[in-house]
Amino acid sequence: MILKLNDKYLKKFISEHEYECIAPMVTVADKMLREKSGLGNSFLGWMDLPENYDKKEFERIKIAAKRIQADCDAFIVIGIGGSYLGTRAIVDFLNSVERQGNGKYPEIYYAGCNISAASLNDLLYICENKNVCINVISKSGTTTEPAVAFRILRAFLEKKYGVEEANKRIYVTTDKARGTLKSFATQQGYETFVIPDDVGGRFSVLTAVGLLPVAVAGIDIDALMQGANDARIAYSSADLNKNDAYKYAAMRNILYRKGKSVELLVGYEPFVGTLQEWWKQLFGESEGKDGKGIFPASVIFSTDLHSLGQYIQEGERILFETVLSVNDTKSMYTIPYDEANIDGLNFLAGRDINELKQIAMRATQLAHIDGGVPNIHIELEERSAYCLGYLIYFFELACAMSGYLLGVNPFDQPGVEAYKKNMFAMLSKPGYEELRKALEERNI
Ligand code: PA5
Repeated sequence: MILKLNDKYLKKFISEHEYECIAPMVTVADKMLREKSGLGNSFLGWMDLPENYDKKEFERIKIAAKRIQADCDAFIVIGIGGSYLGTRAIVDFLNSVERQGNGKYPEIYYAGCNISAASLNDLLYICENKNVCINVISKSGTTTEPAVAFRILRAFLEKKYGVEEANKRIYVTTDKARGTLKSFATQQGYETFVIPDDVGGRFSVLTAVGLLPVAVAGIDIDALMQGANDARIAYSSADLNKNDAYKYAAMRNILYRKGKSVELLVGYEPFVGTLQEWWKQLFGESEGKDGKGIFPASVIFSTDLHSLGQYIQEGERILFETVLSVNDTKSMYTIPYDEANIDGLNFLAGRDINELKQIAMRATQLAHIDGGVPNIHIELEERSAYCLGYLIYFFELACAMSGYLLGVNPFDQPGVEAYKKNMFAMLSKPGYEELRKALEERNI
């Protein structure tokens, strides 16, 4: 089994009849998804994307990736939110284990995901003596953070190579027709890739948004898509008992109704850290609205057992955990025997670090359920592009189902606009004069 949803440590918190109660709601929500009849139904393109993706563009992505690999050793991805988190999640998750062949691939850097002069200066310093290509990614083509970073990095590239050569090193991923970035790309002749109209930012990792940079990093995008497509087929039933993505959504919803309003996605490997960030955006932006929603948070154990562990064990009982464990047989390390045994660790000699991790995980799960923290366990068979594609689709489908069970539109993000409008008004952007006046009157 590629992905196992284990409810062994949940039985104390959810009874069988609770699944029976929610099952009819799952069936209705499944119908809304499959028949595209629910709220946000114009953003369901991600559902059959692993099968119905643009094959011609997919081939163009592979060709462009090869060219970029030959042209640069530093590849800068400019984007924010859904326009970079998925890429970063995949690259970090598979880094060093899944790069195809023995080739040397460009290092991937990120910009436009913050407003930090320090980060930009660091990046420019790193890139000074490197060959550089850029992929600027923005669905709207107007988001301020990546737009500002692009202006600065474009100038850097033009100074380094001249305008003509710089233009060949800039790749744009955006809407097929709309937005400033699209017009700019057409004018400059940048190679352009498309974010489909019916795929929202946080569901776009399996479009050119994620595929181009991930392919540049040397990751097998065929395997990634195959994994996602196999998950699409595996999770096609409307029956909760035959669809683990829906079961996970149901578990979350049942726990939320019992007052468990914070979900901790638990990893045991630093390489899942940015996947957790992608997951947080996926669930947080999809569900947190209308005064409702589970707050998605994350921890890496054992690291955080020594910081947040105390709270999880004995703090306010609003938490549940979803443990994501990845069977990583490619990375092993046996603890050595030491004749002197001054550190007293010979009882561990000959055991692999992975075995130690498994025991730490079970010990923690038992302690946490004893402390009143419900525990869902997702086990991934392998650390590979295929399994990661499978997991990505699992989470996307579970998120859509969770949103409908919660009674929200999982595919919009009206709340993200509030800070942007204030910022534009405060920066005197044309068109925001009235809001600027109103903010000034508040005198804060
Ligand atoms: O999920 C989303 O829609 C958002 O997180 C966007 O991806 C993010 O705001 C960036 O927007 P854009 O790609 O338009 O620059």
